[in-house]
Amino acid sequence: MISSTITGWGHYAPSKVVTNDDLAEIVDTSDEWIRERSGIRERRFAEEGDTTATMSIACATTAMQRAGVSPQEVDLVLVASSSPDYLTPPVSSQVQEGIGATRAGAMQLTVGCTGFVYAVVTAQQFIATGACKTVVVVGAELTTRWLNFEDRSTCVLFGDGAGAVVMQASEEEGCGVLGHVLGSDGSGAEHLIVPVGGVAQPTTKETIEKGLSGLKMNGREVFKFATTVMGTALDEALEKAGLKAEDIDLFIPHQANARIIDLAARNHNLPPEKVMVNVDRYGNTSAASVPLALSEAFEAGRIQPGALLAFVAFGAGLTWASAIFRMDSRPLN
Ligand code: UT7
Repeated sequence: MISSTITGWGHYAPSKVVTNDDLAEIVDTSDEWIRERSGIRERRFAEEGDTTATMSIACATTAMQRAGVSPQEVDLVLVASSSPDYLTPPVSSQVQEGIGATRAGAMQLTVGCTGFVYAVVTAQQFIATGACKTVVVVGAELTTRWLNFEDRSTCVLFGDGAGAVVMQASEEEGCGVLGHVLGSDGSGAEHLIVPVGGVAQPTTKETIEKGLSGLKMNGREVFKFATTVMGTALDEALEKAGLKAEDIDLFIPHQANARIIDLAARNHNLPPEKVMVNVDRYGNTSAASVPLALSEAFEAGRIQPGALLAFVAFGAGLTWASAIFRMDSRPLN
């Protein structure tokens, strides 16, 4: 099996910063409640010209420049998103076109907040078999356009953004995804759902009048699920990789809630310097959260050649995924 590594990274955060105090002006909430329950201080809201495609193209372009990869070298474009520009076509084709990757196949993965980790594992399979040498993997979300700003329990948690990596084949053995878990439990579908707008319940005048549109979340149920699955998914992936938590150089979890991250880190004896957290500045950016955190970690010099990374995410479906990822030893740009 052919190894892989990450050769480029990038992220895009819309410039509009929305603080907890800003939200307290439109919904019955407070900075104190949001910070204590979630760890979030502010998030970004997309500007008028931003879409999931434009944000994806921006960060993918940065990642390709950093990797020194030309559009013609890209074999596959994977875009994880649950908030694509359109129900169809897939946003992945807009991104493929936007980055000029005319030789590449393109695929959208809609796996809620878990999508980017699913996409990294998918990219690894194509590289491992020799089918692809260069894959652009993006996680991008613009959830704030379908949040219900009358539902304070949900609207204060989410933000917009995008992150991308270039994954490429490596000649070094033992790099890339060393162990992974992809999980799904559809019995929990109702706990995190956009019930209206698909074929089961299309948008009608009545659904709009009744205020049924937007994301609905049973926060307590998702919290219970998340605190359990974050730990078990990490343990299972480590076991498959034949490694231990102490081997991890940087844990990059889904940024939904600082309490969920803290618990997983404490249970695995991971000190703060081994845990990437930016939920305080971006809120929950769904499938964009892991690549946004990963890209910021690279920029901050927190990832060195040869580093062992651990990704864990969970979300709608309900779904979860984890991947233990070894960087190869080439210098980072
Ligand atoms: O990436 C997708 C995955 N999503 C998640 O990971 C979210 C998981 N869940 C959570 O992070 C937490 O459950 C929340 C942050 C959503 C909520 O925290 P909680 O400690 O579970 O609070 P709660 O839902 O139990 O609500 C506590 C109280 C309730 O009032 P009562 O019933 O105790 O009087 C809520 O009505 O807080 C109230 N509340 C609020 N108060 C002020 C709910 N939302 C707000 C709000 N501001 N925005």
